[in-house]
Amino acid sequence: MKVTALNPVGAVVDGVRVDALRQAHVDVLQRLLGEHGVLVFRDQSIDDAAFTRFLRSFGELMFTTGETPVDGHPYLNVVSNVGRKTPPRSTFHIDTSYVRTPPAYTALRAVEVPETGGQTLFSNQYRAYERLPKDIRQDVAMRSITHVVTGVEVGDDDETSAVHPVVRKHPVSGRRALYLSSPARCATVSGLTPEDGRALVEHLIEHCTRDENVMRHAWLPGDVVMWDNRCVMHKADHTGVVGRRVLHRGMVATEPPPR
Ligand code: OGA
Ligand code: MN
Repeated sequence: MKVTALNPVGAVVDGVRVDALRQAHVDVLQRLLGEHGVLVFRDQSIDDAAFTRFLRSFGELMFTTGETPVDGHPYLNVVSNVGRKTPPRSTFHIDTSYVRTPPAYTALRAVEVPETGGQTLFSNQYRAYERLPKDIRQDVAMRSITHVVTGVEVGDDDETSAVHPVVRKHPVSGRRALYLSSPARCATVSGLTPEDGRALVEHLIEHCTRDENVMRHAWLPGDVVMWDNRCVMHKADHTGVVGRRVLHRGMVATEPPPR
C-alpha cells in the first residue's frame, strides 16, 4: 500500500483493491482516515455489491430517509445531475448530522464522470480548529450546536435534530476538529441568541472553507473516495458541469465520538 498525502487534506492510496480488503487493511484505512480525512482509491472496477461489502467492512451501514436508493442496493443512494435543469445546491456540510449517531464515514464511487467540472471539495477541520485564535478556540470548546434536518423528506419515525459539541475529539487520531454543517442545518448554538449563533456559525464556516483549507477532488472513472465526517466537511462543486455526473453513495455509522 502506497499513501500519498494531499494538501491540505486527504491522501491517495495506491496498491489497494477495495473489493479485496482484509481486516488488517480496514484497521490501517481507519487510521489513515483519522489522519488524512479523505482517501482516494483510483482505478477500482467494482459494482454496487462490492461497494456495499467494502463499506460494511468498516461497520454498520446507514441510509438517509429521503435519498434515492440504488435499485437492488438499499444501503446505497444515487447522487446524479441527470435530468436536472438547474444544478443541485451545494454548500459545505457533514452528512446526516441531525441524528444522535451521525455517520463516521461516507464513500462515493464514480459511476459516470462528467467531461468538465463536478469536483468534490473537502475542508480540513483539524487544521481549521488549530488555526482559530485562542479566544475563539476556548469559546467554542464549551458550545454545542443543534443540528436539524433540511432538504430531505424524513419519515415519521426518523430523528430530525441532534445536539453535538462544536469541538470533537477524533476517536482514532485523538485530535480535535470543528464539527459543523451548513448554516441551514446548524439551527442554534448553546448559550447564544439566534443572531449571535448564526453569526458564529457563518464565521466558523468561512474560516474552515477558505481555499487554503480545501482540497478539490477531480473525479476519474474508477474512483472510490471515502471520507471521515468527524474531521472533514465536504461539498460538490456543480458550477460549469458538462456531462452526466452520477455517483453512488454509502455511509457507515459509529458510536458518537467522545469529546
Ligand atoms: C453527498 C455529497 C458530494 C458530491 O453525496 O453527500 O455531498 O460531490 N456529495 O456529489
Ligand atoms: Mn454530503
